[in-house]
Amino acid sequence: MDEIVNPNRYLERMSKPLQEKLKVAKFIPEGTKTVLDVGCADGTVTLALAEMYPEIKFVGIDLNKEFIEDAKIKAAGKTNVSFENVYLRERLSNPERFDVVLFCSVLHEFYSYGEGISTVVKALADAHEILKKNGRLIIRDMILYDYAGKSQLWVKEMKEKVTVKGEIAHLLADFETIFGETVSVKQLNHFLLKYMYGDNWEREGRENYVPVSFEEYDQIFKLLGMMVLFQRSSTIPYLKEKWRTDFGFADSELESFRSTGIIAAKKL
Ligand SMILES: C[S@@+](CC[C@H](N)C(=O)[O-])C[C@H]1O[C@@H](n2cnc3c(N)ncnc32)[C@H](O)[C@@H]1O
Repeated sequence: MDEIVNPNRYLERMSKPLQEKLKVAKFIPEGTKTVLDVGCADGTVTLALAEMYPEIKFVGIDLNKEFIEDAKIKAAGKTNVSFENVYLRERLSNPERFDVVLFCSVLHEFYSYGEGISTVVKALADAHEILKKNGRLIIRDMILYDYAGKSQLWVKEMKEKVTVKGEIAHLLADFETIFGETVSVKQLNHFLLKYMYGDNWEREGRENYVPVSFEEYDQIFKLLGMMVLFQRSSTIPYLKEKWRTDFGFADSELESFRSTGIIAAKKL
């Protein structure tokens, strides 16, 4: 994985939408005793969930040693949460199995810093293995639909609204050299999720924020024999307002762009 140039700024950006991220809590089923939080970084989300559910035992894992050291310091004195600097795969050799496995804002990083889709498929297969029977997998990430029901002409018009803003035109040009010409809603939506990170473009520009669509997750769960219980895509209100202000999109146009996906699936 690329070294994170400014870990404090990275962690601050991660923890900012904490309230938004905590919406995953409502997918933790009643009776849950154990939750594995994969890619927990400094444990901000894990610790907040552990506080909300004192009766549940939380284990957070991350491959970044410094983040886990931070998380352990914050967890001092708390009895229902612990952190480990291990890969998910390594955790399989431990016989402990979990009621819930959570991937919050991590799978796009598995894809970008791992081996692409094979890393995501492996992570989900490992999660399946580490779950108890009837256990639940929860994914929250930037997830879009492949099919958005809009014509190429519509996308061209929206792209023009974006390129009118001269100061980000070079970012779009660079984005297109990496991900190809912006001819689909999904591709334009992908750019809308990252143009604000121009100051860290070297890292953010190359990261594929939306590598696995809802349709592809469906296929993976089908192969794993898991039942999808819930799927939702939405837009964080702050982002919707930013896109409206920055590009003058109308409400009907904003409807086609999303920021966040949540999927809950059950191991049968
Ligand atoms: C964007 S942060 C999300 C942190 C936290 N889940 C949250 O939502 O605030 C992604 C985290 O995933 C971790 N990560 C990336 N690839 C990983 C892998 N293969 N195994 C474990 N952790 C990984 C990174 O070190 C980073 O801390």
